[in-house]
Amino acid sequence: MAHSSLSTVLLLCLAMAASAQLSPTFYQTSCPNALSTIKAAVTAAVNKENRMGASLLRLHFHDCFVQGCDASVLLSSMEQNAFPNVMSLRGFEVIDSIKAKLETMCKQTVSCADILTVAARDSVVALGGPSWTVPLGRRDSTNANEAAANSDLPPPFFDLVNLTQSFGDKGFTVTDMVALSGAHTIGQA
Ligand code: HEM
Ligand SMILES: *[C@@H]1O[C@H](CO)[C@@H](O)[C@H](O)[C@H]1NC(C)=O
Repeated sequence: MAHSSLSTVLLLCLAMAASAQLSPTFYQTSCPNALSTIKAAVTAAVNKENRMGASLLRLHFHDCFVQGCDASVLLSSMEQNAFPNVMSLRGFEVIDSIKAKLETMCKQTVSCADILTVAARDSVVALGGPSWTVPLGRRDSTNANEAAANSDLPPPFFDLVNLTQSFGDKGFTVTDMVALSGAHTIGQA
């Protein structure tokens, strides 16, 4: 009995350690209004122009597919110049303005990587889609990688074999890929 409850406690600790890095309540004490501030700004931007919701979702995808969700997509003239990004990524000014607001509220607390992630979720919600809980605490990269953006982001001419390989390299199944591609039901192409 004592032994089995100790095992249970140990297992719980291990499970917590495994997910300790990111938490939906990461900013609850350090910046309690962070999430409502992002939501208000995203909702306003989407109300002003519907397509912005799609653009913010795509920005998050292009951030995460190159060296992880680290806001490296925001570092100008590096990843932004990569072929799948140049002249087609939008929404930077929305993220910039949210970051500026959060800096005045809670200096150097909320990462751009988290802002991008939450903005993608809030965009989908603002456009009438489902909601989901976003674990927080991502760190921002200090470098971007144009070469990795060119090699990791799938270009529009990829066939199914290429796409399956590209998403597989990031740990996604074909089912994941098809589900994520549902993002193309919004926005402009
Ligand atoms: C499967 C591989 C993918 C390819 C080859 C691809 C390619 C493209 C291309 C070529 C565009 C049009 C860009 C333009 O006309 O300026 C586009 C738009 C878009 N993509 Fe993808 N994409 C892929 C996956 C994804 C994923 C996984 C997401 C998000 C979960 C996503 C979200 C979007 C959105 C929302 C738009 C519209 C953006 C806007 O209107 O500003 N895409 N994509
Ligand atoms: C794309 O897939 C084809 C087979 O359909 C393969 O020959 C080619 O090397 C792949 N290209 C890339 C860039 O993965």
